[in-house]
Amino acid sequence: MDQKTDLGVRRNRIAAVLKSSASQAFVITALPNIRYLSGFTGSNAALLLTTDRALLFTDPRYQTQAPQESDCEVKIAKGSLSTEVAKWLKRLRVKTIGFEQNRIGFEEYTHLKDSADRSARLKPLAGVVESLRMVKSSAEIATIRASVQLNSAALEQAFRHFRRTMTEVDFAAEIEYRMRRLGADGTAFQTIVASGARSALPHAHPTDRPIQGNQLLLVDMGAAVAGYASDMTRTHSVGKLDARTRRMYRAVLESQLAAIDAVKPGVSCATVDRTARQVLSGYGLDKLFTHSTGHGLGLEIHEMPRVGRKESTKLQAGMVITIEPGVYKEGIGGIRIEDTVVVTDRGYDVLTPTGKELIVL
Ligand code: GLY
Ligand code: MN
Repeated sequence: MDQKTDLGVRRNRIAAVLKSSASQAFVITALPNIRYLSGFTGSNAALLLTTDRALLFTDPRYQTQAPQESDCEVKIAKGSLSTEVAKWLKRLRVKTIGFEQNRIGFEEYTHLKDSADRSARLKPLAGVVESLRMVKSSAEIATIRASVQLNSAALEQAFRHFRRTMTEVDFAAEIEYRMRRLGADGTAFQTIVASGARSALPHAHPTDRPIQGNQLLLVDMGAAVAGYASDMTRTHSVGKLDARTRRMYRAVLESQLAAIDAVKPGVSCATVDRTARQVLSGYGLDKLFTHSTGHGLGLEIHEMPRVGRKESTKLQAGMVITIEPGVYKEGIGGIRIEDTVVVTDRGYDVLTPTGKELIVL
């Protein structure tokens, strides 16, 4: 299926949702959702879908690019996109208008409400496009695989240039440079390089602190390739680690492998999360695992489903998720190991090729 056919199939699915929710139109304001349904990659857009039309609104910066990327009817707005969308809603005499309740700005919402026909009804919808995005096509999985492979190659190259005197920022910059040279659009999120006690902060920003010996070094990185994210965390040892920290590493690795092994269609996300926690509990470390086990990823770094304690969503073939248990001991350090995994008909396929044994730098 070529990309344009893919877009048409996705929009037909939305049209079916509109019919079943008795809405005549859907205004889509989240850029990743717009990209998913229209192919447009610009930074300012709104998409108006009715059961038989697809109108893409953007500004004059994109008047050449938008029709090249998208098969939708392109409307170039001189002013606010939402005012233009509202004008079209009136023109099309649409009376029931779905909108993305959790992905619309207050100003956009106000414009829509004030400019739409008085008899029109605005209907909040949540997670409609995100639910479709949860199960990836084989073309999307191929792109995520390419993103994951590029990400791993970038880390391998960056480690060839690693020196103990480097700062966390130096090493993060080296990683990001390698990603770009390998063909990434950029990073999928801000690269995390955290050494020593800072590795206990699950989302640390790299600092100008030199990476020193006998400490942990945590690297969490993701590339964006053709819009699709990858996500990987590795924790290394810079010089010697004490026995307690090495035991912690073993526990996290065992937990991550067990959670991956629990992945298959029909299993709930909560079960995968519980599997990771049970292993850590056997080591008395479960209280130090303070976040969920993983998340979906695709056009965004965090997508549905969340692989967490309370997530009853059942895994389906075609979902792509991360598995990333971690333990964090304040003032001492943290260990996290993360792979990107695709759910297959029979179980799972770990996309990340990078090894997971503890490496001493
Ligand atoms: N690796 C970044 C995150 O999952 O939040
Ligand atoms: Mn992640």
